Amino acid sequence: MALQFSNACFSAFSRSRVPAVRAVASENASAAVKTAEEEKVKLGGSDLKVTRLGIGAWSWGDTSYWNNFDWDDRKLKAAKTAFDTSIDCGITLFDTAEVYGSPMALGAISSETLLGRFTKERKQRDPNVEVAIATKFAALPWRLGRQSVISALKGSLARLELSCVDLYQLHWPGIWGNQGYIDGLGDAVEQGLVKAVGVSNYSEKRLREAYNQLKKRGIPLASNQVNYSLIYRLPEENGVKAACDELGITLIAYSPLAQGALTGKYTPNNTPSGPRGRIYTPEFMTRLQPLINRIKEIGEGYGKTPTQVVLNWLVAQENVVPIPGARDGIQAEEFAGAVGWRLTNDEVEELRSMASEIKPVIGFPVEKL
Ligand SMILES: NC(=O)c1ccc[n+]([C@@H]2O[C@H](COP(=O)([O-])OP(=O)(O)OC[C@H]3O[C@@H](n4cnc5c(N)ncnc54)[C@H](OP(=O)(O)O)[C@@H]3O)[C@@H](O)[C@H]2O)c1
Repeated sequence: MALQFSNACFSAFSRSRVPAVRAVASENASAAVKTAEEEKVKLGGSDLKVTRLGIGAWSWGDTSYWNNFDWDDRKLKAAKTAFDTSIDCGITLFDTAEVYGSPMALGAISSETLLGRFTKERKQRDPNVEVAIATKFAALPWRLGRQSVISALKGSLARLELSCVDLYQLHWPGIWGNQGYIDGLGDAVEQGLVKAVGVSNYSEKRLREAYNQLKKRGIPLASNQVNYSLIYRLPEENGVKAACDELGITLIAYSPLAQGALTGKYTPNNTPSGPRGRIYTPEFMTRLQPLINRIKEIGEGYGKTPTQVVLNWLVAQENVVPIPGARDGIQAEEFAGAVGWRLTNDEVEELRSMASEIKPVIGFPVEKL
């Protein structure tokens, strides 16, 4: 991949640079990009190598949850800058889904279409650039059997303007069963349409079933994408994290910033707008404040922001790739400074213990299907 570096990215690293004694590697910009590149990890038992963290593209083009129900040119420009800045900073994994920016929502643009366009434009300027794209199959009730996976995948490939996607995931378990969908994932690998396959929102039981079914065909189940953050640690409690570790499946952590609640920018008097405001209420943000204050304090010792600390906390759990959502270049820059350094084990445990005092908000209901 091109080790290109933007001024924007340089300034982010300068701002978040850790004290010299702790991180010689962050002393200059190219070293920081190299760190992200060197830190690439294999996704489960597949041959796919991805950066230590990726970027979530749910908000790009979406008008049903993000963007105050409105998508416009300014937001489009910001999303494109988020994409380009991520690559400039060495983060090359992007996560989308066929339902993000669904045409069912007024004024929405498909996130896959945007990501495809951004990738194509970037490749025109920089033919050797490496971009890893993960997308997802929606297990809608009327989609039955293995063939539905292949036809949905072909739709995604068309929107992404690709002939092969890096990671194809089942977005949530099917209500009629999953065997056909898992067969479909295997078919996608064998037809050369995907490099690796994974699931999302799968319980431990379903994860083991999917793993065993694919194993019979010699295909590794690369990942399980679940809601996981410092304040939402269900995967630690329901056996999902342990099963991922045991079976060699990478846990991809979605909503790793608790949708912005853990970044330190929201307070009891300044809660997020839109649907998030109903989840991260003033009462919840009040309960969160002592933890946020401690995260800030720990971050100051490293020259890091709260966002970088909470992402680093996830990376420290091992076998976890967080995919924070970036709405603009500034947010994307900040993510890059979350890797290439380590919280101490004591800090990791202290934050877990403080967080366990806070009752988490409700997660995505499909996890419990
Ligand atoms: N598989 C699934 O079922 C599933 C479900 C949910 C998400 N996902 C995936 O996971 C990705 C990430 O999850 P998410 O978007 O729900 O939540 P998230 O990553 O926890 O939070 C993203 C939001 O936090 C705010 N933010 C980001 N960086 C920031 C920074 N540096 N400083 C301050 N605020 C910042 C932004 O919103 P504001 O600027 O508006 O505050 C951004 O949209 C999604 O894009 C999607 O790819 C998958």
